[in-house]
Amino acid sequence: APTRYEAEASPAVCTGAIESNWAGYSGTGFCNADNATGAHVQFTVNASAAGAATLGIRFANGTTTSRPAGLIVNGSTVQSLSFEGTGAWSAWATKTATVQLKAGSNTITLDPTGSAGLPNLDHLDVEAGGQQQASAL
Ligand code: GCU
Ligand code: CA
Repeated sequence: APTRYEAEASPAVCTGAIESNWAGYSGTGFCNADNATGAHVQFTVNASAAGAATLGIRFANGTTTSRPAGLIVNGSTVQSLSFEGTGAWSAWATKTATVQLKAGSNTITLDPTGSAGLPNLDHLDVEAGGQQQASAL
């Protein structure tokens, strides 16, 4: 099972407000980041060993306009993610991405590149393993 990191729980950073006015979140709420470029959310995740990990980023975007963001791992932008509209602020979806983690503590940051900022962010699930390498049989 993945390890879950809630956006409303320290040491996560929410550049905005922790809120709970839209139903369907896990934990005790979600991060409503400021609607601005660079209004980021950061998670600190632990990996028992270096290697690939699959991220599950749960979000809601009640608008019809995508909210793009850079996915930054330990300070390096590794991917661009597009958080499309989910139909309602109470309709949550999960975006997946595979990243490389180092053993120990890692920072994973979602940094919005558009002036609307991020969607509302509920949590980050991290599953070690990611894409497995084909074994030589
Ligand atoms: C609305 C909504 C918020 C959301 C915001 C936004 O105000 O209630 O939860 O964060 O729109 O556009 O980002
Ligand atoms: Ca917002």
